[in-house]
Amino acid sequence: MAFMKYLVPALAVAGAAVAQGDSCKGPKTIENPGDASALASCTTFEGDIEIAAKVPKGPITLEGIQEITGSLTCKGAQNLTSLAAPDLESIGDTFLLSGAIELRNLQFDSLTEVGALNFEALPNLQQLSFTKGVSKAKNIRISNTDLANLKGIALNTVGDMEISNNLHLKEADVAQITNVTGFASFSANHEELKISFPNLESALNMTFRNVSSVEIPSLKKTQGLLGFYSNFFEELAAPNLTSTGDLVFADNSELTNISLPILETVKGAFQIANNTELKAVDGVPKLKTVYGALDFTGSLEKVELPGLDEVRGEFNLQTTQEFNCDALQKEVGRVGDWVCKGKVANPQTKDGESGGNGKGNKPTGAAVPLNIPSGMTMMALIGGALGFAL
Ligand SMILES: *[C@@H]1O[C@H](CO)[C@@H](O)[C@H](O)[C@H]1NC(C)=O
Ligand SMILES: *[C@@H]1O[C@H](CO)[C@@H](O)[C@H](O)[C@H]1NC(C)=O
Ligand SMILES: *[C@@H]1O[C@H](CO)[C@@H](O)[C@H](O)[C@H]1NC(C)=O
Ligand SMILES: *[C@@H]1O[C@H](CO)[C@@H](O)[C@H](O)[C@H]1NC(C)=O
Ligand SMILES: *[C@@H]1O[C@H](CO)[C@@H](O)[C@H](O)[C@H]1NC(C)=O
Ligand SMILES: *[C@@H]1O[C@H](CO)[C@@H](O)[C@H](O)[C@H]1NC(C)=O
Ligand SMILES: *[C@@H]1O[C@H](CO)[C@@H](O)[C@H](O)[C@H]1NC(C)=O
Repeated sequence: MAFMKYLVPALAVAGAAVAQGDSCKGPKTIENPGDASALASCTTFEGDIEIAAKVPKGPITLEGIQEITGSLTCKGAQNLTSLAAPDLESIGDTFLLSGAIELRNLQFDSLTEVGALNFEALPNLQQLSFTKGVSKAKNIRISNTDLANLKGIALNTVGDMEISNNLHLKEADVAQITNVTGFASFSANHEELKISFPNLESALNMTFRNVSSVEIPSLKKTQGLLGFYSNFFEELAAPNLTSTGDLVFADNSELTNISLPILETVKGAFQIANNTELKAVDGVPKLKTVYGALDFTGSLEKVELPGLDEVRGEFNLQTTQEFNCDALQKEVGRVGDWVCKGKVANPQTKDGESGGNGKGNKPTGAAVPLNIPSGMTMMALIGGALGFAL
């Protein structure tokens, strides 16, 4: 008889576990606040949770859940005003919020880990109430929101990071990030956006567009592109930078000073174009090798490259100002092909684009000569040179 006493509770526990197993497995769609409360006993939810587009006007709260192993997604929930998950610590896959045009409150007090975070078209979202701070995410994309800062994002490393079209975003203090293993891109946010990466040491690719300040004091290297387009700063300094892939400064209307005091190697093209106020390039004293083309156009008066031993691609310098090409040629070592012209009305980049004034453009990918046989390279370069002589 005694064993029955134990058996009953044991069965009851097993039964509860089964019940929890069923109701705590995805995919699950939440259509109203009641559907959300029904999940409150799930500490771990296995699979995906989707918040339906048709959720009624008002808040949705996911209480009790600590972990979602799959994704948490919400697309086109026009009437959702608030989304909260006070206990949720991690989302294994993607946290996607898109087109929640009335969403004003996003309260995730315990969240520290997401697979990927993708927020877009949230025009009324002014802050991320991630009280603990998201410290782990493979990729982050925040586009078309009303955020004024990125408080709540506290990553150490990140893969791809895209922050774009957030018209009120003025601060992006991503202080903890030491390593960007993918592509980081900032564009079309508030024009006073200041970006500070005080601890960033390495990145794969980075592009900065339309920003008013970029601080990268500890950046040592980028494997791929480091590009600055259509920015509003006067000075760009990267005091610890030694090596980049393509390096581009295009259409930065106020830029007067580029300071890269220990940059030695550009493993791609080095392009400077359409920076109307830039008169001198004298802040790259240690630059030794450029694997692609060196392509400087604009109204440059002074270019000093005292350490430059080799440009494997074309060397193209064209300026509207009077320019002493001979003096420069004595300074630099081997170059793939030499074009240097002062007093030209319409400076042309090595691909024959206008590079004196006006709008920026995408990099010209001049690392290409590395991938084709050297004979071909020479022919292509000669063709290019004839191209703009005609
Ligand atoms: C949002 O609410 C409005 C007004 O009640 C309704 O017409 C509309 O269909 C709702 N949107 C969605 C996606 O359910
Ligand atoms: C950055 O991450 C990449 C890829 O995970 C790794 O190879 C590299 O060593 C890391 N660099 C630093 C400085 O942590
Ligand atoms: C922002 O940058 C893009 C791409 O470089 C450029 O086309 C656009 O004109 C810039 N916008 C402003 C306001 O500078
Ligand atoms: C620059 O690099 C040096 C040598 O690696 C290091 O000691 C210094 O702390 C770095 N500066 C910054 C601002 O990270
Ligand atoms: C990094 O930039 C290079 C151009 O310099 C480009 O070819 C490559 O696709 C970029 N990589 C990523 C991951 O965006
Ligand atoms: C450019 O900036 C560097 C570093 O901030 C500074 O040392 C240098 O004097 C500046 N050059 C000019 C011409 O302003
Ligand atoms: C420079 O500006 C001109 C005129 O807007 C544009 O056609 C050209 O593509 C730009 N060149 C570069 C390299 O940004």
